[in-house]
Amino acid sequence: MMKKLALSLFFLIFSMHLFAQEPDSETKAEKRVFIDNLLSKMTLQEKVGQLRLVSVGGDLTLSKALDQIEAGEIGGIFNTVVEPDLSQMQERALKSPNKIPIYFGFDVIHGHRTVFPINLGIASTWDRSAIAKAAEVSADEATSDGLNITWAPMVDITRDPRWGRVSEGFGEDPYLSSEAGRIFVEKMQKQSLSDKKSLVTTVKHFALYGAVEGGREYNSTDMSERKMFQEYLVPYKAAIDAGSRSVMVSLVSVNGIPATANHWLLTEVLRNQWHFDGVVVSDHGAIRELINHGVASDPKDAVRVAIKAGIDISMNDEYFLQFIPELVKEGAITEEEINRACRHVLELKYDMGLFSDPYRKLDPKLDIETMFADDRLHREEARDVARRSIVLLKNANEILPLSKNKKIAVIGPLSDSKRDILGSWSGAGRANLAVTPLEGIKRAVNNPKSVSYAFGANLSDDANLYRFLNLYEETTKFDHRPADQMIAEAVGIAKKADVVVAFVGEAEGMAHESSSRTDLSLQASQKKLLKALKKTGKPLVIVLMNGRPLTLSEEYTQADAMLETWFLGTEGGNAIADVLFGDYNPSGKLPMSFPDNVGQIPVYYSHLNTGRPRGTENMGKYTTSYFDSPNEPLFPFGFGLSYTNFAMDFSLSSSEMNKNSEIVVNVNVENIGNKEGMQTVQLYLQDVTASVSRPVKELIGFENITLKPHEKGEVKFVIKYDMLKFWNDKMQYVAEPGKFNVFIGSDSTTQDKKTFTLLDK
Ligand code: BGC
Repeated sequence: MMKKLALSLFFLIFSMHLFAQEPDSETKAEKRVFIDNLLSKMTLQEKVGQLRLVSVGGDLTLSKALDQIEAGEIGGIFNTVVEPDLSQMQERALKSPNKIPIYFGFDVIHGHRTVFPINLGIASTWDRSAIAKAAEVSADEATSDGLNITWAPMVDITRDPRWGRVSEGFGEDPYLSSEAGRIFVEKMQKQSLSDKKSLVTTVKHFALYGAVEGGREYNSTDMSERKMFQEYLVPYKAAIDAGSRSVMVSLVSVNGIPATANHWLLTEVLRNQWHFDGVVVSDHGAIRELINHGVASDPKDAVRVAIKAGIDISMNDEYFLQFIPELVKEGAITEEEINRACRHVLELKYDMGLFSDPYRKLDPKLDIETMFADDRLHREEARDVARRSIVLLKNANEILPLSKNKKIAVIGPLSDSKRDILGSWSGAGRANLAVTPLEGIKRAVNNPKSVSYAFGANLSDDANLYRFLNLYEETTKFDHRPADQMIAEAVGIAKKADVVVAFVGEAEGMAHESSSRTDLSLQASQKKLLKALKKTGKPLVIVLMNGRPLTLSEEYTQADAMLETWFLGTEGGNAIADVLFGDYNPSGKLPMSFPDNVGQIPVYYSHLNTGRPRGTENMGKYTTSYFDSPNEPLFPFGFGLSYTNFAMDFSLSSSEMNKNSEIVVNVNVENIGNKEGMQTVQLYLQDVTASVSRPVKELIGFENITLKPHEKGEVKFVIKYDMLKFWNDKMQYVAEPGKFNVFIGSDSTTQDKKTFTLLDK
């Protein structure tokens, strides 16, 4: 301990004159001198060490890792969130030849100790302040645990719910995803990386991971450059423009070249066009996988290909130390290339303030018990974001909200599951601290005895699915009672209740990395349960817990009311109760279209028009359609009901604009129902005629307004020239004169439009 204090003091004095200020232009020069000086003292071996990011565990025991750290062979650690391990590692780093501190990383995806809703849920809030709250609390908790960097936000656009990682992103839309990504970066990193509460963000997975063919995990992507720049690359760019200092590269191949080996993507686009000056991190195992991709002949070749493409840091590195020195010696890569990558890492460490105080986020007093203590959680914030994430999909005869005096039957395999409600990527959270829906409902009602509960059915009767879910640890328990017996028990309590609330959907492990599905319907066991419950004739509220859009047309017909609750995190059960009983009027909107059936995929709102738009006459023959399915999704992007209703009308400040002017969209909103509620006013644009076909509409703005019953309010948007730009037929980013349609609505199906013309001059 004394030694550590002495070392800290040494660092403090040693660096005080150099690092007293933020890196403004003067300190930028000082930073350069400092890093030049450091680099000149480092051996090639030590430089390579800075490019290594490793996870302690398996073959790399803590004691081996400590020795490697002291030898200057490791630049950063991920997946360790336990004091005193972190302090111990930092101590050893400060004994390395050049005393370069290490950084600590972790996947802080949707919360840290307090788990917030999965990101698809956070996106469903369509509420910038809620997104900000989730990001800010996550960063505060993570930095209090000693972490410096996270592998978030994940902004991969996806229009294919078969892909399991849908749950981690913000949905199908470039604008909504960009807004969420930008807010994550701003709130996590803060103004300065040297802020004690600043958590460096890593925007991922660059690029196009969400566009894998067939929604099959790790599959290839192939896309026109126009679609990339117009849609899929937009959120990464937004996060980088917001200042994200780190980028993680996607595991998949982009137009035939794996992203990890893709010089065009990592160097030409990211560095040269977008001027990104942070660190580029490969994903777990990605360098080795270049051999399987068929662009490297062996591990050494894979290292060469990755470095040449523009990778700085090797996550879970196995090969850098082994092969880089040899590759440099042979001239296959240059020391300059390694210097450049190492400089990116050292600059990041400098800006994080690690050289001035390596222990700035570490707290050796934080023992394991304290670390998981309930009073470290931010329950109030989590509950608020969680209830804003809930989307009301149906409410026939205003069956919701429920009275707190009713007899309620809570039924279903997800009603009381603490693990599932946390969702995937919640490694620092603890299931025992989570509130299940059953617990939340019991706490909310006037008499907990009026709530009865039955498990009802296993999540699935498919033993293979259980094997898949429980491969590494038992996360999903199988009830061995006969299925009919469980259903009979559920029906029995349903019959005695005033209303049935059924919790169905997916296990959290079904919406995760490596969890692609081809069938998006509820499992047969759950369908059977719902059918039996419906038969009782009791009002049926279906509460969905799932990490992706599912196909739900049968359940939609069965339900009297239906709520999409995703996986809501630590306070999920309380948040669900808030909405069920009307303590919160649901305001969430879908960030992704819910297909009517799997055959429609990809189904998304911002598609192009065809030469033969769908007709209604002659069975739609010779117009773009399916003869066995509607074109439209079951629930469109942006959709979500409320316990009240809103009326909207709008006007444009002008019917013309030019390069130097703008158009103001004034929207009058009125709450025409009997409850206070929040409406998300959505602004869509269509460029009617251009040099390339443009989408039927694209989201370009959204604002929330909360109104009391019969209250009126106004929302204003400003359409600026830059918002009309797109990648034209010559791949130039321009606005073209002509007609534009402006749509205002409460979801993406709105046809309420006004038109203006962009003039030539
Ligand atoms: C995932 C990344 C994640 C990394 C570290 C990989 O398998 O693709 O998103 O950040 O693991 O946990």
